[in-house]
Amino acid sequence: MNKKIIIGNWKMNPNSVLEAEKLFKSIKKLTVKGVDAVICAPSPFLSNLKKIGVTTNLALGAQNVHFEKEGAYTGEVSATMLNSFKINYSIVGHSERRAMGESNDDIAKKVLALTKNKIIPIICIGEKDRDHSGFYLHTIKAQIVSALSLIPKTIFKSVIIAYEPVWAIGANAERPATPAECHEMVIFIRKCISDISNTQTAHAVRVIYGGSANVEDAGLFLNDGMADGFLLGRASLNAKSFGEIIKIASINISK
Ligand code: PGA
Repeated sequence: MNKKIIIGNWKMNPNSVLEAEKLFKSIKKLTVKGVDAVICAPSPFLSNLKKIGVTTNLALGAQNVHFEKEGAYTGEVSATMLNSFKINYSIVGHSERRAMGESNDDIAKKVLALTKNKIIPIICIGEKDRDHSGFYLHTIKAQIVSALSLIPKTIFKSVIIAYEPVWAIGANAERPATPAECHEMVIFIRKCISDISNTQTAHAVRVIYGGSANVEDAGLFLNDGMADGFLLGRASLNAKSFGEIIKIASINISK
């Protein structure tokens, strides 16, 4: 069984560094041994949050990265910069960024830049729609194969795959996925990874779920959905909910 990981994607929240520090401090108190927690905060807050202190149970992550090392890329942040103040994780390929034009090729280059800088990529994949013909499975496979195409197979096991069906994300979500749909996709994702590496690697990769996950359904996603954790948007902006989900994951591991 893989170690559970609960990742918060704060997106463009909260409004001020003071609020961010307060939220991070509250979350820090609720982390537990045996479950990895990560907060992916807006870049301007990372330095202050780092000063509050990361622990073996709580790490910091970025929400995006540029694949180039340096240069004329206004508004961008490089993996080298993140590495320089020891940020351990970064989200790549979030659907909200894909919607702004990020391609599978860009994501592959970002994964390469991150791993070269010893930062763990949290690779978001997910279909926009679920068609009855099952074409969405081709979309998922193409996203996985492309994201892992530039890094050596020996480091596949260190990446995190976040399955986030686009139709289940955010306040305008159609509905959350069901734990059964999640389970089916966890199996399919591992099969795709196995096809380009081996079974052992495919099982070692942490596959997590994201999309309207909350305190009420977290246990079901971990048990029946076979998720190794969550990428949480809204639920990560409330320390109590985030802490509750960490607790559920810790109960889940001691079963
Ligand atoms: P949500 O966001 O939990 O608010 O649906 C998830 C995400 O976008 O990563």
